[in-house]
Amino acid sequence: MKVFLAGGTGVVGTRALPALVADGHEVTAVARGPEKAALVARLGGAPVTVDLFDPAELATVVAGHEVVVNLATAIPAFGRMNRRRAWAVNDRIRSEASRNLVDAALAAGAGRYVQESICFPYVDAGDRWIDEDSSTDHTPWGFVASAEAERQAARFTSSSDGGAGVVLRFAMFHAPDAGHSAPMARALRMRINPFVGDPDAYISSIHAEDAGTAVAASLRAPAGIYNVADDEPLRRREAGRVAAEAIGVRPPLSLPRWAWRASPPSVRFISRSQRISHDRLTEATGWTPSHPSLRGDWP
Ligand SMILES: NC(=O)c1ccc[n+]([C@@H]2O[C@H](COP(=O)([O-])OP(=O)(O)OC[C@H]3O[C@@H](n4cnc5c(N)ncnc54)[C@H](OP(=O)(O)O)[C@@H]3O)[C@@H](O)[C@H]2O)c1
Repeated sequence: MKVFLAGGTGVVGTRALPALVADGHEVTAVARGPEKAALVARLGGAPVTVDLFDPAELATVVAGHEVVVNLATAIPAFGRMNRRRAWAVNDRIRSEASRNLVDAALAAGAGRYVQESICFPYVDAGDRWIDEDSSTDHTPWGFVASAEAERQAARFTSSSDGGAGVVLRFAMFHAPDAGHSAPMARALRMRINPFVGDPDAYISSIHAEDAGTAVAASLRAPAGIYNVADDEPLRRREAGRVAAEAIGVRPPLSLPRWAWRASPPSVRFISRSQRISHDRLTEATGWTPSHPSLRGDWP
């Protein structure tokens, strides 16, 4: 199929693009500048320069594609995530650019729209498994726009000109080139657990390569929302131990549970206990992660 990909030059996109090509798709990917264009070409795609905030320009370049995949994000750097203003561009991409891409997909008569999203808004479920019907809370500022992006995918499904709108809710990425890997390693060297929160709470992860193959698999999925996570969520204490071992430092020291309960909302919202199940995506498409656990695999 002819696929239009936004965000194909990012951590997940650079894995998704070759996975789509390997599945036999012809991919046009947005490239912001000549270096990114060369990267897209190396990965087997055809680069195109377009402003995601320009609906007319976007409609022109999306015309002729059967699938639109939106992986574009501008997540603030690890140390700036607790500042509301740092999320402005990302919010605009998830709301305005997603709306423009859905409009362009509808105008092109595409049969499928795939939208990246996140697992973090699921409410704390303690030791219970979380599926796509579990409750969410999008009130923290980093999450508001992901709800809007998901609504855009639903609009594609419900529109009379639309088709299958698919949302992929990714768990926490791990990859050597993920923006948060280096600051996490620095925290570990100071014996601080970068998997913040109650040490007994669960954290769910996904290797960037598996996120990429999940994007390719999503072209076979019926419309709906799908979690993309590995097989084995770990308790945060264990995740910290595993990551410390990976870089050859001593296990981090854990703050007591009461310290996390007393922490500000900006910290509490990323410390929810999340034991995420990917069963729905696996049942719909046959996708399984090739990196089943963070254990022995932290970059
Ligand atoms: N679940 C998670 O753990 C999670 C979720 C989301 C994000 N993150 C964070 O984000 C990274 C994950 O990788 P990612 O692939 O989501 O993000 P990424 O590597 O930052 O890639 C973002 C993609 O969106 C594109 N983009 C950004 N602003 C754009 C704009 N204004 N117009 C068009 N395209 C734009 C980028 O293009 P350029 O290459 O031209 O910049 C790139 O292709 C990690 O480093 C992590 O820190 C984590």
